[in-house]
Amino acid sequence: MPTPTANEAALRQRYEELKRLIHYHNYRYYVLNDPVISDYEYDQLMRELEAIEAAHPDWVTPDSPSQRAGAPPAEGFRKVRHPAPILSLANVFDDAELEAWLERLARLNPRVREADFSVEPKIDGLTVVLHYRDGVFVLGATRGDGLEGEDITANLRTVRAVPLRIPVDPQGPPPPPYIVVRGEAYMTHADFEALNEHLRQQGERTFANPRNAAAGSLRQLDPNITAQRPLRLLCYQIVAYEGPHPPRTQWEVLQRLKALGFPVVPAEHCPDLDCVKRAYRAWVERREHWPYDLDGVVVKINDLELQRSLGVVGKDPRGMVAYKFPAREVTTVLLDIRVNVGRTGVLTPYAVLEPVEIGGVVVRKATLHNFDYIREKDIRVGDRVIVRRSGDVIPYIVGPVVSARTGRERVYEPPTHCPVCGAPVEKIVGEVAVYCINAACPAQLSRNIEHFASREAMDIEGLGRKIAEQLVAARLVGDVADLYYLTVDDLLPLEGFAQKKAANLVAAIQASKQRPLARLIYGLGIRGVGAVNARLLAEHYPDLDALAQATEEDLATLEGIGPVTARFIVDWFRQERNRQVLRKLRQAGVWPRAERATQAGPQPLAGLTFVITGTLPGITRDEAKAWLEAQGAKVTNSVSRKTSYLIVGDNPGSKLARAQALGVPTLSWDEVQALAQTPGGRP
Ligand code: IVH
Repeated sequence: MPTPTANEAALRQRYEELKRLIHYHNYRYYVLNDPVISDYEYDQLMRELEAIEAAHPDWVTPDSPSQRAGAPPAEGFRKVRHPAPILSLANVFDDAELEAWLERLARLNPRVREADFSVEPKIDGLTVVLHYRDGVFVLGATRGDGLEGEDITANLRTVRAVPLRIPVDPQGPPPPPYIVVRGEAYMTHADFEALNEHLRQQGERTFANPRNAAAGSLRQLDPNITAQRPLRLLCYQIVAYEGPHPPRTQWEVLQRLKALGFPVVPAEHCPDLDCVKRAYRAWVERREHWPYDLDGVVVKINDLELQRSLGVVGKDPRGMVAYKFPAREVTTVLLDIRVNVGRTGVLTPYAVLEPVEIGGVVVRKATLHNFDYIREKDIRVGDRVIVRRSGDVIPYIVGPVVSARTGRERVYEPPTHCPVCGAPVEKIVGEVAVYCINAACPAQLSRNIEHFASREAMDIEGLGRKIAEQLVAARLVGDVADLYYLTVDDLLPLEGFAQKKAANLVAAIQASKQRPLARLIYGLGIRGVGAVNARLLAEHYPDLDALAQATEEDLATLEGIGPVTARFIVDWFRQERNRQVLRKLRQAGVWPRAERATQAGPQPLAGLTFVITGTLPGITRDEAKAWLEAQGAKVTNSVSRKTSYLIVGDNPGSKLARAQALGVPTLSWDEVQALAQTPGGRP
C-alpha cells in the first residue's frame, strides 16, 4: 500500500471529524430538538463530507451519515430472526381492570405489592428493532410475527432519528459490544397531512392515517423514497444486551438509551398505582393536542428482574399492560358521497354522515381519500360505517360494517363529469387522482383565488374560501388578476357586503400589490411550485418576464427543481389563458421585481454556475462573488453536476476533489477574467 501523504492524512482526519460532527448535529436536531448550528451550516458539513467520499469511496463506512440513503434491495426484504421474541401487550380499559391486573400479579409474586412503575405513552406507530455492534447500527427489522421480522436496514438508515453510531454524543458512555433496541417509528399529524397533500398534488395515493403512512414509508423497496418521508422514532426497550452494567429497571433502560443518543418515550416514574391512574388521566387530556397518535399508556413494573419473574402468557409479558384510551372510533350511517374539486382540479370524495360525536366533537363529514379507496373497501351509500377521528387529523372512514347491511345500500359510481362545471373528468395514467381538466371550472377558480389570497401567498386579508366562492359565483372574477380591478360598487350587491366591508376588501387587495415576487409566484398556483420553490425561483429570476422565458433546461439547473416541476412551470407560462393573467397583472401594477439588484449592462457569464475554492489572488471571496454575479453568473457553495466551473485558488479544499470526481472543469481566476471577455461566456 502506498504511504499516505501528509495531506491525505489530514483529510482523513477531517473526514472522521466530519462524521462525528454530523452525527452529533443530527442528534441535537432530531433527538434533543435543540440544534446548535443552522441548517445552512449543517448542509455545508454534509457537502464537505460527500466531497471527500466522492474522492475516496474506499473510506466510506456504513455508519457514515451519507449512507442514510442507499441502493434499493433487488427484491423484497430478507427475513431476520429476532434475538429474543418481540412480544406484545395485554390491554386493560379501566381502573378496575388495571387493579385486577396488579392483584393477579401480586398473587403470583407478593413483591409486586411494593413495586414501582414506569408509565409511558403508547405510540400508535410501527415497532422497529435496531441492532448495534460495537456502537455501529448494523441491522434494523420490523416486528413481523414476533420471532422473525423483515430486514429494513436500508430504509431505517434514512430515518434521521435512528443513530447510525452510538454514543451519538462523543461524551456519552462507551457503547456495549452488542445491544438491540426496540422503538416505535411514527409520523406526526402535521407531517402526515403535509405528506398527503404532497401526494395528492402529485396525483398519488394518499394514506388513511399516520400509522399507515409510517408503515408504508418503511416498507418501501426504494430507500430513497423512505428518505423523503418524515419518519420519527421513539425507543422504549432493550431487547438484547451484552456488555457491562445491564440496566436493572425500566427507568434505567430509558436513561441508558437516552445517554447513548436514542430518542426515548416521555415516561413518568410512579411509586404506586394511584400515581399510575393520575398519569393515565393526564395523558387522556394531553392526547387531544398531542402532535402524534397515542392509543393508551403502557404501565410497566419498573424492576426488570421482578418483571421477568412474572413470565409471559401467550405473547404478552405479565409484568406490563397497555391501559387503552377510550375509543375514538364510532359507527354511523353514510348518508351520501360527495365530491370536492381542488385547486389543481383533483376530485376528492368525502362522506356525508349522520352526525355523530367522537371524543367530544360532532362529526358530519369525513374524508374518503380517493375513488380507489371507496372501491377497495367496498364502501356503499347507506352503509353503517366506522368513522375514526384521532387528534387533529381529519376524520376518515375506516370501512363499512358489512354485517349491518340490509341490501338497500347503493354501490357508488365515481363521477365521469366534474360535479361543479360538468366537464368530463380525466384519469392520468399512473396516477390515482381523477381530474377536472376544465381550466375555467368555477370550483378550481375559487380554490385558486383562495390560494392566491392565502397568508403564505399574497396575504389578502378577509379573502377566504367563502368570499372567493361568492366572487366566482357572481362572475366578478374569472382569474386571479381580476381581483385587482374590483371596485367597491362591484362588491356591494354581494350578500353580507356593506360599504365598509367592501372598501376594506378592495383596500386589502390593493395593498397586496406590494408583496414580493416569491409570494406572487407561489400564489399563481403552478403545479409543483410550493412556497420553497417559489422563493428559489424568485432568487434566480428578477421578474415574471424572466421566469416566463426560462426553458426546462434552465429551470432544471436550479437545485431543488426537478425535471417534472420544470415542465409544469414551462407549461404554465405557455398557456394563453395564463399569459392573459400575466398581462392583466402587469397592467394592474402587480409586477414585483426580485429584491436583489439586477444588473444593467452586458452579462457575459449569464447562465453559468461557479463554485470557488481556495484563496484567489488579490480579491476576497465576497468581492469575487459580487463580481461574478455582476457578470450574470450564479455562485454556489458546493460542487454538483450543475456546476459549470470550479474556480481554484491557492490551498484548494475538498471541493477540488469533488469537481474532479464529477468531471467539472476548473479555471484559475485569470482564466475566469478572460472568459468574461469572451462573447457568450464560452471559451
Ligand atoms: S412495550 C413486551 N412500550 O405497542 C412488550 N410498547 O401492543 C413491549 N408500543 O407492539 C411493548 N409504545 O409497538 C411498549 N412505550 C411503549 C410503546 C409500545 C408503543 C407498541 C409496541 C407494541 C404495541 C403493543
